Amino acid sequence: MLEISDNGRTWLLTGPTSSYAVHLTDADELLHLHWGPRIALADAEALAVRPLPEYWPFESPLDGREEYPVEGGPRFVRPALSVRTEERRGTEWGFERYESDGDELRLRFRDDGLTVTLHYRMRGDVVERWVTLDNQGPALELLRADSATWTLPDREDWRLSQLHGRWGAESRLARAPLTYGEKVIGSRRGHTGHQHLPWVALDTDATEERGEVYGCALGWSGSWRIAVAQLPDARVQITGGAGYDDSGLLRLAPGESFTTPVFAGLWSDGGFGGASRAWHAYQRAYVIPNADQDRPVLFNSWEATEFDISEEQQSLLARRAAAIGVELFVVDDGWFGTRTSDRAGLGDWTPNPDRFPSGLKPLAEYVHALGMQFGIWVEPEMVNPDSELYRAHPDWVQHQTGRKRTEFRNQLVLNLARDDVQEYLWKQLDELLSSAPIDYVKWDFNRCFTDAGWPGEPYPQRLWVDHVHALYGLLDRLRAAHPGVAFESCSGGGGRIDLGVLGRTDQVWTSDNTDPLDRLAIQHGFSQLHPARAMAAWVTDSPNAMLNHRASSLRFRFVSAMAGVLGVGGDLTRWTEEELAEAREWVTRYKEIRPVVQRGDLYRLRAPRGGLSAVQYTLGDETVVFAWLQAQSFGEPVPALRLRALDPTASYECLETGEVHRGAVLAHHGLRVGLRGDLDATVIRLRRI
Ligand code: DGJ
Repeated sequence: MLEISDNGRTWLLTGPTSSYAVHLTDADELLHLHWGPRIALADAEALAVRPLPEYWPFESPLDGREEYPVEGGPRFVRPALSVRTEERRGTEWGFERYESDGDELRLRFRDDGLTVTLHYRMRGDVVERWVTLDNQGPALELLRADSATWTLPDREDWRLSQLHGRWGAESRLARAPLTYGEKVIGSRRGHTGHQHLPWVALDTDATEERGEVYGCALGWSGSWRIAVAQLPDARVQITGGAGYDDSGLLRLAPGESFTTPVFAGLWSDGGFGGASRAWHAYQRAYVIPNADQDRPVLFNSWEATEFDISEEQQSLLARRAAAIGVELFVVDDGWFGTRTSDRAGLGDWTPNPDRFPSGLKPLAEYVHALGMQFGIWVEPEMVNPDSELYRAHPDWVQHQTGRKRTEFRNQLVLNLARDDVQEYLWKQLDELLSSAPIDYVKWDFNRCFTDAGWPGEPYPQRLWVDHVHALYGLLDRLRAAHPGVAFESCSGGGGRIDLGVLGRTDQVWTSDNTDPLDRLAIQHGFSQLHPARAMAAWVTDSPNAMLNHRASSLRFRFVSAMAGVLGVGGDLTRWTEEELAEAREWVTRYKEIRPVVQRGDLYRLRAPRGGLSAVQYTLGDETVVFAWLQAQSFGEPVPALRLRALDPTASYECLETGEVHRGAVLAHHGLRVGLRGDLDATVIRLRRI
């Protein structure tokens, strides 16, 4: 809901539990008024007439209070907008008008030929913000154009939560006091990166289920930056957007425009858990395509066969996968070109004639005949120098004239900003998806940008921004042309997870780390922002071959992976009959609880910190509890789990044991889970009766 004051200078957006208000002063300064619990328009108007504090000349009263601080004038904060023409730098804007369109508010400002429009849209309690810049004046350089600046209320002792990591260890939650100065996270690698998810949360004293939490998440899959500043008067602002540096995002010629990605903000007073549930609901309702459809159980061949694949051996795996109840069989890397190792073939998206003499169709049809969907792996944005594509078009890669072309994993990055590269990829992928009954594409990206240059193009070069737009364009076009095909975003595991790519993909590959214990920490972090519906998790072989050689039971591996979108990635040809039979039981059990996991509300009951950890999902009358015991010490009994969101006056039947529990008892005294030893785990289903 949008309300506007009579004088047309105060705007109030209201969601189910929160409000957001801004005000334009008589001097056309756009000030932030409120972000927090619901307020009335009269409250916003009262805030609007509170005078700004007076400062000595070394501080600016605008700092920490503006909605979108531009460069220049009486400001010392990091500008959200930094613009340079041939003659001058900075922005001096005047207000033009506001427009409202359903639930979207647009505030339009002008500085000579440049129009800057701030967009606001309320989605539940999530405020989506972005900016459009339209240049009708002389050419200019956009040095920086953030999507939004978020202002927090005056409080003491802010804490900052972030999700950090690296390859094989993504999305790990870190929480620490904020101090004066700036904390900057981001990626200057051309993709979202394993190092940080583009999200921050700030609180002062929240717990898992109580207290105020402010969160901000950026929807952009290229380089990005979020800066959290605690200013000299302790006020806190968060500014973020595309690109890492302030040294040139784009050149805007006369008549050109740029739209920033969305930077979404959420206030919740339900603690970290309440904030996560609101983010999950928002993504299921507004971001992730077809989120009302549950994702199938998949098998992926990567850990089982790596590059050494053949039609016959994949058919054998497919038979085993079908027998344990898998619904989608995905052939990973190695099916195309001369791709028998990571040294060759990327770029040539036609089946390897030695491995698939009649193309992918016979295998796809065989998989379908087994009752499963068929999927394949691609990495379209890359090329091996040893490929037909590179031999034909060495100029199609990002490079700098006369400089070395840095290789990682023997591959170079294609310059997707080029129309001819986009057209080539569209044709190759469209033909591929038309050549066989393919239902699923795992879209990978296995190295960062290094020599991102485009010889002959003026600086600042568009290639950083246009690469992301081209990626989005390709995904959108392929989805429209092949509406039955689902897509997974992968980047060497979780290197491309953000709200931008999630708007075009059905799930993400969370991490190449499939060790079920490490995964609990990764999943704990991931769940702060993203829902289980998007979080792919595989059961692989034990000991874990990829990362740490840790041995774990099939039970522990399944219960870990079942907390997300379940997949199997082990070498099923080496699993015993007993293991296959047990796997079949777990897959059957997962299908029964899947709607609750993928569409339910998540409650993190205990974080994975060494002993017992647990999560609960609840949907309607159904509740599922996952509990994992890393290690039992001194024979101590494992604590009971106090469940959330149950009706204290109702009874709940445990579908495992038939026992009936009182809601009030489960909430106050807890559910006993009976785990013991090391790496034990269980799934408990409860139904309200
Ligand atoms: C990295 C991915 O994360 C893996 O799952 C696998 O697809 C390999 N790439 C294949 O090269």
